[in-house]
Amino acid sequence: MKELRVGLIGCGFMGRTHSNAHRRVNNFFQLGRKSVLKAICDTNAEKAQAFAETWGYERVETDWRKLMEAEDIDLIDICTPNFAHAEIAIAAAKAGKMIICEKPLARSVAEVEPMVEAVEAAGVPNLVSFNYRRVPAITLAKQLIDEGRIGKVFHFRANFLQDWTISADVPQGGDALWRLDVKAAGSGVTGDLLAHNIDTALYLNGAITRVVAKTETFVKERLHTETGKVEPVGIDDACLFIAEFANGSLGLFEATRYARGHKALKTFEVNGADGSLKFDLEEMEYLDYFQYKGTESHVRGWQRIHVTNGEHPYMGRYWVPGLVIGYEHSFVNALADFIESLETGKKVQPDFRCGLQTQKVCEAVLTSAKTGAWVETGVTL
Ligand SMILES: NC(=O)c1ccc[n+]([C@@H]2O[C@H](COP(=O)([O-])OP(=O)(O)OC[C@H]3O[C@@H](n4cnc5c(N)ncnc54)[C@H](O)[C@@H]3O)[C@@H](O)[C@H]2O)c1
Repeated sequence: MKELRVGLIGCGFMGRTHSNAHRRVNNFFQLGRKSVLKAICDTNAEKAQAFAETWGYERVETDWRKLMEAEDIDLIDICTPNFAHAEIAIAAAKAGKMIICEKPLARSVAEVEPMVEAVEAAGVPNLVSFNYRRVPAITLAKQLIDEGRIGKVFHFRANFLQDWTISADVPQGGDALWRLDVKAAGSGVTGDLLAHNIDTALYLNGAITRVVAKTETFVKERLHTETGKVEPVGIDDACLFIAEFANGSLGLFEATRYARGHKALKTFEVNGADGSLKFDLEEMEYLDYFQYKGTESHVRGWQRIHVTNGEHPYMGRYWVPGLVIGYEHSFVNALADFIESLETGKKVQPDFRCGLQTQKVCEAVLTSAKTGAWVETGVTL
């Protein structure tokens, strides 16, 4: 079988989820190409060596540029922190490699635009790793909306709540804590957490046209692990925003790392004239559906769809009805769609141009938080 030879960069959390996807995808999906783990790259040589042994990579690199020159690499899979995405992706496109890039695509719209130009000029297949689109319950929500089951949408609201940075003793910067360093991450919860909710919103409910936002940085100074000095914190610890969608509906979004008790409470709800849909990542095998249209009032109520039947999105590839899959499978499903698209030629979403739209919303949110005014996003879908 034809091979898809992978060079993966960054062997942290996402390096693991992507490596797992590459290892598993051909076990569950009948595809025209077989994913082969050729090279792993990380600036930390020891970590990369151990990672290569765990996941079965053929070789180790510590400079990602080596992968661009390598003739035995077809796909560059970018799992580094945000600051490194743009330079790597542009080099990969110029080298004619296919690209999967973690979200957010980069730290700003200005950084993302040349990435989009580069992949489009090179004509290389590209995908942004907004994996939640491939959680079967969320894909099913899209199907139910497209089938017209909830009718005209009035509201979209979404949360992403965590609690891991409440202590002022948590430092910023460096290997584990680059997310708290604005130079490395670009922003705080807006790019890290809300970007996911924005992508899901664009997927389910279409373009966001304008936003008004409030951000807060609760801990103003933290020790920087790289400089050894206490430095101002430049990221948003929490972000709330109101949105208007092109379809006339209203959006309400909240993300924070200060919601004591929550590790990854990611939820959304869509309310339409004919029904509503509700999702909670902590019970990701369920989609809650309120069917108004076509039901008599004495039996009308919320139903929990256990999204495990063969006819549910992706589920026919896994076990038998009633048995669940998990977080990691959203990455397997995304990779399967990507590999399939190489055979069919049908573009897979979200590609870099689509990722740019999420970046535009993030930037409009951060601009609005500074000025207090409504900001047009300029999103085109
Ligand atoms: N899709 C999702 O749900 C999801 C979840 C978590 C993180 N992410 C995104 O994935 C990316 C990585 O996040 P993470 O949590 O895996 O980070 P991480 O800190 O766990 O791992 C990053 C790895 O990249 C390596 N690295 C840093 N700079 C490098 C360079 N120039 N060349 C090679 N290796 C380099 C580091 O040594 C580290 O091993 C980020 O963009 C993040 O926003 C996405």
